Amino acid sequence: MKFSKELINRLAEAKSVSVLTGAGVSAESGVPTFRDKGGIWEKFRPEDLANFDAFINDPDFVWNWYQHRREVMRDVKPNPGHLALAEMEEMFPNFTVITQNIDNLHFRAGSKNVTELHGNIERSFCLKCRTFYNEIDVTEKKVLRCEKCGGLIRPDVVWFGEMLPEKALMYAEECAAASDVFFSIGTSAEVYPAALMPLIAKRAGAYVVEINTKPTVMSADLDEVIQGKSGEVLSELIKLIRANKNN
Ligand code: OAD
Ligand code: ZN
Repeated sequence: MKFSKELINRLAEAKSVSVLTGAGVSAESGVPTFRDKGGIWEKFRPEDLANFDAFINDPDFVWNWYQHRREVMRDVKPNPGHLALAEMEEMFPNFTVITQNIDNLHFRAGSKNVTELHGNIERSFCLKCRTFYNEIDVTEKKVLRCEKCGGLIRPDVVWFGEMLPEKALMYAEECAAASDVFFSIGTSAEVYPAALMPLIAKRAGAYVVEINTKPTVMSADLDEVIQGKSGEVLSELIKLIRANKNN
């Protein structure tokens, strides 16, 4: 695998490194990308399910879609890409994972400094009183009601048309702007404001690298594009970083 000398040198000097991850990072774990394949859910567009009105119109139906996704996400394991990112956190004074994924796999791989821009499927909360629920029985086919107030319980994920969690977004922007090296990994970089992060980093002077199996709309604006599966590319990269740190 070919990494540029520039990237290796930048990483050797870097104090702050941040990464933006997307669905592609979990693809090698077997999490279907945003548009699920197979099963009854194939007939529905995610935009029609992942939205507040759909939930209010038919809470049980939308709840069941999330139960299905929860089951899929619980049964998979972090892949070498997630593990390499967790190891990189130990190798730089500041290292932040900014993720669009809701599957919890960065935390399960051991990353600690993870900012979730689109929420987390393992958390849910009551629409009425905001009580949070973390343990959801995935076999429960009817939408859960809050134990305290009887309100509807929804997954703590960002739906189409909703704002991103403000603190997470601000923190992500700060980390992006403070990065010496920034990676955009396994994301189509089409969904905003998440896709702003590599651009913020670039404008602030970071060396910005994309890792993706295909070119994206952003590739041409970045400093380096590495084509390949994130699990494979990051496994190679972590070996190089390890070797450099030991010299
Ligand atoms: P996308 O499905 O838009 O893009 C996935 C990207 O991963 C594509 O560019 C693929 O080429 C790439 N890819 C696939 N397999 C890969 C692999 N093994 N290694 C590296 N790259 C790979 O997913 P996101 O960019 O995450 O938002 O989508 C962003 C947001 O759109 C999602 O968070 C979701 C959706 O609307 C919300 O739910 C709010
Ligand atoms: Zn409640």
